[in-house]
Amino acid sequence: MNPPAPADDPREGPVLVVDFGAQYAQLIARRVREAHVYSEIVPHTASAADLAAHRPAGIILSGGPKSVNEVPAPSMDPAVYDLGVPVLGICYGAQLLTRQLGGVVDQTGRGEYGRTPLVQTAGSPLFVDWPDSAEVWMSHGDAITEVPPGFVATASSPDAPVAALHDPDRGIFGVQFHPEVAHTEHGRDLLERFLYDVCRCPPSWTHTSIIEGQVAAVRSQVGSSPVLCALSGGVDSAVAAALVHKAVGDQLTCVYVDTGLMRANESEQVEETFRRQFHVDLVHVKAADRFFEALSGVTDPEAKRKLIGELFIRIFEEVARDLVAEKGHAAGAGDAPTGYLVQGTLYPDVIESGSDTAATIKSHHNVGGLPDDLAFDLVEPLRLLFKDEVRAVGEELGLPHEIVWRQPFPGPGLAVRIVGEVTPERAGILRAADAIVVEEVRKAGLYRDLWQSFAVLPAVRTVGVMGDGRTYAYPVVIRAVTSDDAMTADWARLPYDLLERLSSRIINEVEGVNRVALDITSKPPGTIEWE
Ligand code: XMP
Repeated sequence: MNPPAPADDPREGPVLVVDFGAQYAQLIARRVREAHVYSEIVPHTASAADLAAHRPAGIILSGGPKSVNEVPAPSMDPAVYDLGVPVLGICYGAQLLTRQLGGVVDQTGRGEYGRTPLVQTAGSPLFVDWPDSAEVWMSHGDAITEVPPGFVATASSPDAPVAALHDPDRGIFGVQFHPEVAHTEHGRDLLERFLYDVCRCPPSWTHTSIIEGQVAAVRSQVGSSPVLCALSGGVDSAVAAALVHKAVGDQLTCVYVDTGLMRANESEQVEETFRRQFHVDLVHVKAADRFFEALSGVTDPEAKRKLIGELFIRIFEEVARDLVAEKGHAAGAGDAPTGYLVQGTLYPDVIESGSDTAATIKSHHNVGGLPDDLAFDLVEPLRLLFKDEVRAVGEELGLPHEIVWRQPFPGPGLAVRIVGEVTPERAGILRAADAIVVEEVRKAGLYRDLWQSFAVLPAVRTVGVMGDGRTYAYPVVIRAVTSDDAMTADWARLPYDLLERLSSRIINEVEGVNRVALDITSKPPGTIEWE
């Protein structure tokens, strides 16, 4: 997918967020987009000419984990300040521009961390919406003590004599605090003033404009060739498919492989949404028997994952070959069957892979790595989007809430939540228990607050008593976590009354279960999934 083409008016170009490490750049880029201005993240090693090639409307230098006084500290091509493009340095970015333009950053020994009162000391176009004093979020050890020539200090805090600075002639700004975090009062106002007034960006990056832009890009990329999309039931593939369908209609065929390891109602939901609501050409492969047969007797977690991945590819490949042979020729694609494959790659994956042109995709986004001889080119209509934008686009396209807001689900499905052998019977027990967890968590209004909440089936059985009889059955473990990115996670403090309902419903309603336990392990040291 191509980014929006630079328009004739340079102000239509993106706002570039220069990344100096850590996660600061992503948050800033998201905040800019929330103000309806398109932003892209670039590495700090990019030259001024690289940046200028984007024809940016503005440049934001992000925070970073280091001190500008460390050697070596991440730097930036100083020619960036001479591009005639407005610059805003945030935290590390403010200190870097101070240092590069001839001011002083000192190791004062008095840092500020957390909420800090800020007082304006001179007028600034960024502070027009601000009261004279406000609370801001600080996180710095060093402090700017002298502004560079041509700059004025516009705010201070108890331990940052220069908490904001400004060169009116060149449109270069610095703030020591973090306007992108929610704890900074009026942080959003400050960013909007920079974007709208200083950079003169129109607030035109809306969900409608994203859809229009991508529909046009997909059409021009694929022409009249057939397009294939593997639907998983998850939000990314669903939104990607809906977007591509809007662009090319019947040229799209979606393949949904039911492995028998899906969540309750997932297959029905995919059928209902894509076949009946969107009238998508959907191939629903009911392959549960093949998966259970392959998994018979397998208990090693990695062996399970590998086996499921390989079988998925084999099945997808069978379907794809048939379809491309049929539709590729029908579409007049020439002698060699060619086609396009839709992938739900998101912007964070693109950034993580090192550059926006890199082809590296995390293996689990890669539908298991299809063989080269299928001759597919990739269509990645979500390549520029953050997860929250994908969800908003999904809603705008009319996808049901249940799909758009569905919690993440691993590629190998319930198999990595069934410790020990995966049998149809054990998958059935887990699916029923999991459906109760989802239903009750939703009823408690917690589904969207939790990163994931699900049931796990261990490979032990324990003794219980029900009525007059002794039971010997499986326990179910409830796993619920909060997280921002799945790299780390904390176990969720679920309310006792919710836990009580889960325990009683699972034991009463799911045959084969006589005990419910709660997983109170964070990540690390645990992982979110059990296998
Ligand atoms: P762990 O268990 O490693 O999981 O803490 C981190 C996140 O990744 C999901 N996950 C997967 N997603 N294919 C996927 O698409 C996989 O094989 C896979 N394994 C784990 C997991 O649900 C969690 O959100």
